[in-house]
Amino acid sequence: MRLQAMLCLLLLLIFELSSCTNLSVILGSTVELPCHSIQTEFTEAAITWKFNGKDITAQSPDSTKVKKDGLYLTISPVTAAHEGEYMCLVKDTDMEMIRTYQITVDASVRYIFKVTEGSNIHLPCYFPLSSQVEANALWFKETGVGRRMRLNTGDDSTGDSEKVEQLYPLDHDQTIILRQIVMEDAGTYTCESANRQKLSTVDIVVEVRPTLAPYSCGITTAWEPCQDENSRTGEPMLQESIAEFSMKLYSYLRQSQASSNLLFSPISISGVLSHLLLGARSDTRRAIERAVCVPHDFHCVHFQMMKLREKLSSSLQMASQIFYNPQMDLSESFTNQSIQFYEAEPIRLLETSEESTQMINSWVANKTNNKIQNLVDSVSPSTQLMLLNAVSFSGQWKVKFDQKPKKGLFTKLDGDMVKVPVLYHHKYLAAMAYVVELKAQVARFALTGDSSLYILLPRSNTVADLQQVEEKMTDTAVREMIEQMKTTPPQSIEVTLPQIKLDVQPDMNILIKKLGLSSLFEGADLCGLYTKERLVLDDARHRAFLALTEQGVEAGAVTTISFSRSFPSFSALRPFIMLLWSDQANVPLFIGRVTDP
Ligand SMILES: *[C@@H]1O[C@H](CO)[C@@H](O)[C@H](O)[C@H]1NC(C)=O
Ligand SMILES: *[C@@H]1O[C@H](CO)[C@@H](O)[C@H](O)[C@H]1NC(C)=O
Ligand SMILES: *[C@@H]1O[C@H](CO)[C@@H](O)[C@H](O)[C@H]1NC(C)=O
Repeated sequence: MRLQAMLCLLLLLIFELSSCTNLSVILGSTVELPCHSIQTEFTEAAITWKFNGKDITAQSPDSTKVKKDGLYLTISPVTAAHEGEYMCLVKDTDMEMIRTYQITVDASVRYIFKVTEGSNIHLPCYFPLSSQVEANALWFKETGVGRRMRLNTGDDSTGDSEKVEQLYPLDHDQTIILRQIVMEDAGTYTCESANRQKLSTVDIVVEVRPTLAPYSCGITTAWEPCQDENSRTGEPMLQESIAEFSMKLYSYLRQSQASSNLLFSPISISGVLSHLLLGARSDTRRAIERAVCVPHDFHCVHFQMMKLREKLSSSLQMASQIFYNPQMDLSESFTNQSIQFYEAEPIRLLETSEESTQMINSWVANKTNNKIQNLVDSVSPSTQLMLLNAVSFSGQWKVKFDQKPKKGLFTKLDGDMVKVPVLYHHKYLAAMAYVVELKAQVARFALTGDSSLYILLPRSNTVADLQQVEEKMTDTAVREMIEQMKTTPPQSIEVTLPQIKLDVQPDMNILIKKLGLSSLFEGADLCGLYTKERLVLDDARHRAFLALTEQGVEAGAVTTISFSRSFPSFSALRPFIMLLWSDQANVPLFIGRVTDP
């Protein structure tokens, strides 16, 4: 009885084991091939292993090893040379059993991706760079043990190439994109060359999209009213904020652009951020308040900005605007306050990107006296909100320069000299002093409209001296310098200033990040402005223009100082820093640096 059962089992076993097992093993891995599983019954049997017809012994020198008297064969690590047929032969007095393995080595790269339903995914696959690409790779999806389905990668007209797309046909990069992943897309994908060389294997695990809680705004009420419009602290508070903010910006910019020309208008950047602050709530409000250096809950900030704009209006025209996606309905209280404090009634973007671009660029051109045109190249159709602030400055020299055209040699940071047109006066009435705290020779040139151009000339034309001045330019030091210069009596000096024309576009996106406002790009709490969904800022720009002419300063600032004659003179024919300052409102309007006029 026992014998019968045994026979039956053996027959079954032989039938099963003699069938060939095809194994695909990964390059570099370890495999262990069992010869059979009923050890005890074959204690007397002799076991031999063969690889491609040749005997393998326990002493074989390579990484193939016979273990436990032949019960196992291990290969570690697997190399391409291990591909082939492995055969285990069991021989007893009255029985013989053969088991074979067909091993193929899978040298392809393996990736595992976890993706969320509904997303798109790139499935990577590369031909070796040394190979010639004559045909695209073939992509398959495994559909069961040993079964697979060819993916249509869009290189013929059949099938849904909407779903699968070959990104770079006939390129070494055979990556495909799989769009709108559904649960059924989970599984193993393989990429093979036309001659069956496996290039990559990708396992996709699809995860259910988490259900998002519906968006809801927290605080949606209007900006708090300014309780004490006549408070005497409001105005100096804003002045201090703007000065601190300005010097902070200058410090970021001078570091990112260590030696080039520089120009920006802090008052304009401050204007746009304050306008945004009007609609910001919770964390976003705090972040903007910190960025523009206003104390938290300085409710009068917008009222004071309005007063400042009015005060500056004789020399600097400032305009704000908001453009928004027509699908949005801005909150009425925001719109009302935007008109009240910033004279800006939000405007809807137009149907097409071209129309919107043109509308915005004409607005900018109009507000800058046509000095800045084509600020934006295009308005993305996904743009939700755009805030703009434009300033235009025009001031005449209180003391005019010679009208005769004159040239001078400007020494650059690297010592090179360039010939530039200069403004010259042999006896100009201006305040000039060496400001110890800044290690700079400073001259103040009075302008109409109660403004002044301050030029800070480092001790020499070297980068080190320029940086020394810049490092010392904190808001306190600058404000003290302004006070000192205001009380310095003007004297007759020989003045030489390069006639500069600056048009600079500092990277506002980086500036926004440096100001600690990165979160605006990811999603801002603008619940005071719009409550239906989260908004993300998608672009920020700044461009400043400034020219020194015989008449005065147009919209910006630049100059340098040096003194070498016994007769006091001020020659800005080497790198310098300049501040265009509103003496009346006591805030900086433009800050710049000239290294290459
Ligand atoms: C195993 O591979 C051999 C040779 O590649 C092939 O002829 C055979 O059909 C394969 N067997 C199975 C079960 O896939
Ligand atoms: C906004 O202004 C309009 C016109 O002045 C006024 O009728 C409306 O009540 C105001 N809305 C809010 C929310 O303040
Ligand atoms: C700006 O637009 C206003 C109103 O349309 C117009 O009166 C003014 O002349 C324009 N300014 C410039 C510089 O184009």
